Amino acid sequence: MVKKRSKKINRMEPPLLISNKKNKAPLSTTKYSKSHPFASKILSRILLSKENSTKKTYHLTLDLTSSDIFYKPGDSIAIFPENPPEIVDKILKLLKKSGHEDIICPRSKKKISFHLFLTKKANLLRISPYLLKMTFNPTLLNDRFQQKTFIENHDLEDLFQQFPFHQIPLQDIVLHIAPLLPRFYSIASSQYITKNCVDFIVVTFNYIRGQKKRKGISSQFLCQYAKVHKTPVMIYHQSNPLFKLPKNPTSSIIMIGPGTGIAPFRAFLQERLYLKASGRHWLFFGERQRNCDFYYKNFLLDLEKNKKLRLDLAFSRDQKEKIYVQDKLKEHSLEIWQWIQTEAFIYICGDAHFMAKDVSKTLQEIIKIEGNFSEEEAKHFLKKLRREKRLLFDVY
Ligand SMILES: Cc1cc2nc3c(=O)[nH]c(=O)nc-3n(C[C@H](O)[C@H](O)[C@H](O)COP(=O)(O)OP(=O)(O)OC[C@H]3O[C@@H](n4cnc5c(N)ncnc54)[C@H](O)[C@@H]3O)c2cc1C
Ligand SMILES: NC(=O)c1ccc[n+]([C@@H]2O[C@H](COP(=O)([O-])OP(=O)(O)OC[C@H]3O[C@@H](n4cnc5c(N)ncnc54)[C@H](OP(=O)(O)O)[C@@H]3O)[C@@H](O)[C@H]2O)c1
Repeated sequence: MVKKRSKKINRMEPPLLISNKKNKAPLSTTKYSKSHPFASKILSRILLSKENSTKKTYHLTLDLTSSDIFYKPGDSIAIFPENPPEIVDKILKLLKKSGHEDIICPRSKKKISFHLFLTKKANLLRISPYLLKMTFNPTLLNDRFQQKTFIENHDLEDLFQQFPFHQIPLQDIVLHIAPLLPRFYSIASSQYITKNCVDFIVVTFNYIRGQKKRKGISSQFLCQYAKVHKTPVMIYHQSNPLFKLPKNPTSSIIMIGPGTGIAPFRAFLQERLYLKASGRHWLFFGERQRNCDFYYKNFLLDLEKNKKLRLDLAFSRDQKEKIYVQDKLKEHSLEIWQWIQTEAFIYICGDAHFMAKDVSKTLQEIIKIEGNFSEEEAKHFLKKLRREKRLLFDVY
């Protein structure tokens, strides 16, 4: 039976996600979406990493007042970033435009100013093949390898600098600019605690593409350009039915989340503690250095002290040899196996490229050794855990 949400909303009690009869996927708990986002504001932005850290990671809180957005731990918040004003200005100059020109946004079909389009709607990093065609440059058009290399190493600013795009009708250019897509951030709070707000974590980073030093668009917008209490931040809520706390509050949970992967586990812990869930909690957290990258140190150490949390830490750069969360898992191989035997749920969050793969491999090794299985049997066991939704991933 499909449960109906009561019309009267109690702010203290976030509603359970409503099941869809056919596939049991939860229906959205919000009226906001990619095409209809909510205008929020940053209420606070706190640097989580300390002064000597080699990276800058922030804890942010967004205002959800009057949004009727209801989220659950494991969900994420989608954010529409904005391009840096100095890049927008450079592009306007190169195209010899003021920014006040009206254009039709290719996606919404609405009339907006060219400045607004460049700031909020345009992916200024990606050169589409159609834009490349407008250069009429024979080398770039006929040589596939040159084309690929040019696209990989240049952005729209480079393109407009090298070719006379100011001679092309503006709407023709606009039509072939890729859209600026929303970025997702794992929710780091339980709504039982944060009520009309939502917490999340953002890591900022620099990289080099072509000859230029760059910064991530969304992380830069959220951590540098967006003004606290002032800049509207367009968001919507993305529920994730595949990364949820066990229904049974007595179930034990093992959480593996290095770096920003800690985010959903802060939410999990807040929620389970609020609901006085009796299941055990075991967290594997890792970062670069203990003295400056131990996010939510007091919260986690207090829980550990009060026997509400078992905590294992892997600070990779505090010694010569790297120590990662999977090394800590290996150290407790037998106990991990015992927790699995008692129907514990395992959650992995953070980097998809390396960490999640390596941690999965380690779990398979643990199952093989402690369960006395062959390689093939251990692989099947891990697959079974995934099928039973006792091994869950939120990786990016
Ligand atoms: C479900 C989900 C949950 C997520 N949760 C979080 C979260 O809790 N916290 C968080 O910080 N991010 C999270 N992310 C990643 C986030 O959505 C963005 O991708 C991230 O902030 C980078 O976006 P950007 O616009 O700053 O970088 P972009 O401008 O999009 O990045 C440009 C280039 O940098 C590379 N790049 C991206 N990230 C990094 C990095 N960290 N270091 C070096 N190079 C990088 C990209 O490959 C790309 O080539 C999540 C992603 C998903 C899909
Ligand atoms: N080019 C890219 O697209 C790119 C590059 C980097 C990050 N990212 C994305 O940004 C995300 C967030 O980064 P983050 O700052 O939260 O954390 P992170 O970069 O994942 O680092 C967190 C901790 O995990 C360690 N780590 C590195 N490789 C690991 C592995 N194979 N197994 C286990 N632990 C490992 C790191 O150690 P060390 O750093 O000391 O090795 C560090 O101590 C990443 O997870 C990734 O998805 C993207």
